[in-house]
Amino acid sequence: MALSDFDLVLFGGSGDLSMRKLLPALYNRDHAKGLPETARIICVGRNAWSREEFMEAMEQNARPHIASGNPDPATWERFRGRIQYVSLDAADAATYAALKGALRDGPDDSAIVRVFYLAMPPSLFATICRNLKESGLASATSRVVLEKPLGRDLASAQQINREVGQVFSESQIFRIDHYLGKETVQNLLALRFGNVLFEPLWRREWISDVQITIAEELGVGNRLDYYDTAGALRDMLQNHLLQLLCIVAMEPPVSASPDAVRDEKLKVLRSLKRFTPFTLAQDVVRGQYRSGHVNGVAVPGYRKEPNANPDSRTETFVALKAEIDTWRWAGVPFYLRTGKRMADQLAEIVVRFKKIPASIFARPNTTFQPNSLLIRLQPEEELQLQLMAKTPGDGMRLRPVELELDFKETFKTPRMDAYERLLLDVLRGQLTLFMRSDELEAAWEWVEPILNYWEQEGDEPMPYTAGTWGPAAASALVARDGLQWREES
Ligand code: BG6
Repeated sequence: MALSDFDLVLFGGSGDLSMRKLLPALYNRDHAKGLPETARIICVGRNAWSREEFMEAMEQNARPHIASGNPDPATWERFRGRIQYVSLDAADAATYAALKGALRDGPDDSAIVRVFYLAMPPSLFATICRNLKESGLASATSRVVLEKPLGRDLASAQQINREVGQVFSESQIFRIDHYLGKETVQNLLALRFGNVLFEPLWRREWISDVQITIAEELGVGNRLDYYDTAGALRDMLQNHLLQLLCIVAMEPPVSASPDAVRDEKLKVLRSLKRFTPFTLAQDVVRGQYRSGHVNGVAVPGYRKEPNANPDSRTETFVALKAEIDTWRWAGVPFYLRTGKRMADQLAEIVVRFKKIPASIFARPNTTFQPNSLLIRLQPEEELQLQLMAKTPGDGMRLRPVELELDFKETFKTPRMDAYERLLLDVLRGQLTLFMRSDELEAAWEWVEPILNYWEQEGDEPMPYTAGTWGPAAASALVARDGLQWREES
């Protein structure tokens, strides 16, 4: 579907996200001839830069992330031509006049889609929205995109929802979680609801457990200031991991419309079993990396990162066991795990099925592995279904084999980055892959007792060596249920 002409305003336009992800995603779309000829991108920042100075910053900071630093010269020229730079103080409504001057037409002119992308700290969301309204820039047809973190607890998330909601209606608000833009996540929807094969098995009668892992080899990089106030639970689990859990666990929606999908995700979040003091102590593990080696390179511990607080208690790893109290899922553990400076860089979902009820094959020759479905989001996008098969030759000996679907091989078309996909959806006004306010609040409501518990207990996160799979307690968490994490089995 062709896009309508648009003015896309990027607050935080000279920031890291904009340079590394948003501008490159827009360039890619432009290169695919996917942007209307006169569409414009207005980057907003605090620096009192001229357009030329901003262009220079874009050359240095965005270009290396585009086509490995070699954008197509013609597209790059065209793309540069779309960019404007406006310097303003986001907190001061008086400075918004400059932005008004840069936008086309009145705000009620729906021929040009007007989008405000707030790649800014959440503490500024309400102020910016208010200022947009006061300066007559926000209207019933404009859209606003909110980048995470969307609050740091339930109360702050509710406040954001309330204050942004005073300016924009729910159908104008796009709360981004870039994991929902990843191809494999959408493929999971296709797998579940485009095939007859899985749905009858997708329940407690046949599934023994589900593991969801997002492991990073990277440390905190230059984001320590933000990360130290957030930690892995807020940065990754409250949003990305819970969103993945929702897609795995939700009931079939009545359609793919935004509210049909989001209603089902919300039900999952509301059905998550609440923690008790016992399960908080027992089923949640938090860790912090110490020095070690990642890919053979020595790296410092979290507390020794440049400018780090040497006593920081911020967790860089979290693993937990969740349960969903519904007829479909009761009793099936969902193990979630994420961390920085881990042994590998991967994101995956493993759905493990139950054991066969009885074997007709002689024991010494065959060790049964229960079937499992691996849905890998990165580094490669693939599906792997593990089955038992007979090994060729005399006798009857079985061993595990894999049926594999490599998306890159199968669909030889270039992959679309998550941000590119989601930006397109914003520009089209398609809300399915964005979180609704009630989803956001339900996720915080479930996660908040963990934060409170950690604060009350005052314990240190458990240390783990960089380049490993996290603290031993994370292995013990699944071992208690007679299981292992996939990489450790
Ligand atoms: C972001 C987190 O939301 O996701 C980062 O703030 C994290 O800390 C990143 O590194 C991971 O995203 P991806 O797509 O690289 O797995």
